Amino acid sequence: MTGIVVASANGRIGIETAVDVLRAGDSALDAVIAGTRLVEANPEDHTVGYSGLPNLLGEVELDASVMEGRGLRAGSVGALKGYQDAVDLARTVMDELPHVLIAGEGAARLAHETGLHPRDLLTPEAETIWRERLGTDHDTQDASSRYLSRLREIVRATASDADLASSGEPPHGTVNFLARDRAGDIAAAVSTSGWAWKYPGRMGDSPVIGAGNYADNRWGAAACTGRGEMAQRCCTAHSVVTFMRFGLSLEDALRMAMTDLAHLDDPYASEMNIVALDKDGVPGAASTARGKTYVVMSEDMSAPEERTRTIVPVEGAS
Ligand code: GLY
Repeated sequence: MTGIVVASANGRIGIETAVDVLRAGDSALDAVIAGTRLVEANPEDHTVGYSGLPNLLGEVELDASVMEGRGLRAGSVGALKGYQDAVDLARTVMDELPHVLIAGEGAARLAHETGLHPRDLLTPEAETIWRERLGTDHDTQDASSRYLSRLREIVRATASDADLASSGEPPHGTVNFLARDRAGDIAAAVSTSGWAWKYPGRMGDSPVIGAGNYADNRWGAAACTGRGEMAQRCCTAHSVVTFMRFGLSLEDALRMAMTDLAHLDDPYASEMNIVALDKDGVPGAASTARGKTYVVMSEDMSAPEERTRTIVPVEGAS
C-alpha cells in the first residue's frame, strides 16, 4: 500500500515533505504535521501561522487541530498568541494531556512548558494590511466602535479579495492536510490564523473536532477552509465522514455536506471548501466557489498534482 497526501492549495509548499515522511515509513500523523508546519512558517501565507492576518486589535491568534483515524485521538489549540507552531502544540495536547482543546493563555502556557520558541507573529506586511483595511490609526477604541457596523461590509468585501493573501485564499483561509500511510492509517491536520479582523478570542472550525477536521480509519477523513462558523454549525467535516459511513461515495458525501450549508440562516455566509479522503485513500475536494484547487501527491508521484475542486454552489456562499 502506498501512502497519499491531500492538501488545500496553500499546502503546496509542504506536501512534498509530507510525502517524504510517508516514504520513510512514518505515520500519516507525522506526515500531516510536517506539511502543516511548513505552511505555518511561510511568511507569504497570511492565513496561517507566522504572518497571519490579525484580529480586530492587531493580535495574531492561531487555531489548529490534529486527529488520528485509528482510535479517534485528537488534540487542538485555539486563540494561541506568540507561538508559530500551533499544529505541533495540538499534537502535544493530544499526546500529553487528558484533554482535546486548550485555548488562550492555557495554550500559550503549554507552548512555553513544552519549549516551543516564542515569536512575534505579526509581520510588517500583515500589520500594514490590517491598518489599511480597518482604517484605524492605532486607536483601539475607534476600531472597536467601528467593528460591528463595518463587519458585514468588510466580510463581503474581503471574501473574494485575493490581494489579502498571496495564496489567493479568502480572509478566513486555512491549511488542510489529510494523509493515509502504508499501514492504512489516516490522519488530518488543520491550521489557521482564522478570520482576519475577528473579535479577539474568536475560534473558528479549525480547532473544533468534527467541524473543521475529522478522521476515522473506517470511513475516511475531511477538513475545511472558509468561513468557520458555517462548518461549526453544520459539523461539516464529521458530516462528510458520516455520509461516507452510510454508503455515499466521496463525491456525493462532499455534495451533501455542502448542500447542508444552504439551510443556515447566516448573513455572513461566504466561501466554503472541503478536502476529503475516503478509507481507501481516494482524494476529493469541493468548493462553493469557482476555480478553487487542491493538491494531491502519492508516494509514487514525482511531484504534486493540482486539481480543480468540484463546485457545489450554495446560495449566499461563494
Ligand atoms: N476556517 C477558518 C476559520 O474560519 O477560522
